[in-house]
Amino acid sequence: MSHPSEIPVELTWHKALDPEELPEGRVKTVTLGTNTLCLTHYDGKYGALDNRCPHQGGPLGEGTIENGMLRCPWHGWDYCPLTGTPPGDYDDGVETFPTETREDGVYVGLPPEPEHVRDVSDVMIETMVNWGVKWCFGMVGHSNLSVADALRRQEEAGNLKYIGIRHEGAASFACSAYGKLTGRPASCLAIAGPGATNLLTGLWDAHVDRAPVIALTGQVASQVLGRHNFQELPLEKPLGVWRITPKPSCPTRPTPS
Ligand code: FES
Repeated sequence: MSHPSEIPVELTWHKALDPEELPEGRVKTVTLGTNTLCLTHYDGKYGALDNRCPHQGGPLGEGTIENGMLRCPWHGWDYCPLTGTPPGDYDDGVETFPTETREDGVYVGLPPEPEHVRDVSDVMIETMVNWGVKWCFGMVGHSNLSVADALRRQEEAGNLKYIGIRHEGAASFACSAYGKLTGRPASCLAIAGPGATNLLTGLWDAHVDRAPVIALTGQVASQVLGRHNFQELPLEKPLGVWRITPKPSCPTRPTPS
């Protein structure tokens, strides 16, 4: 845990609040860059804490200040709203960032973003781009964030266009239509479980008309596969004639079903 007094060098200052935006004794969630923070106003001062509760990741920015402590909304763990320290002898505090009150609002100093390290999601999407896929229709959620980030990098590089949709069925039908009209595949993206099953009708439409599509879905962690984890679905049964599940400990290879 860091404290406002331990200010690292080369901070980037982001405006987080307008003057008077956050009343005394209140809490607010703020996203700055890729950081989600819990902003607090307590005892005339402002605090900026990592939004993830150290217990199980609860959203501290949706908590409340009670009896001088910031209370996590999930299971009620308490932290100092300014320093992130827990009460008593506990040592699992929340990371904090320095704040500065200026004329035009409250600023938070954040360290520079770490440089991205190319990962398996980058390799997957780069491969897709190298195959000539130019479009992705998709819906982003917690189980496909890494792939979504890789898609964003390819879009920023001018190699791909990403179209956000509001239901996965629309994504798979768009893919199917693109395949029928051009003879080339586009891709559709969904999260694990219900997001993946929502793709089914559009994928079947493509299947019966022999249209090429690439369906990308999230999946639960490999450690809990087959144990009825939240949003787990054995994708090869309803979806696949051919699937790939990348695993960190072994080479990636296609698995016929
Ligand atoms: S996640 Fe915050 S108390 Fe459990």
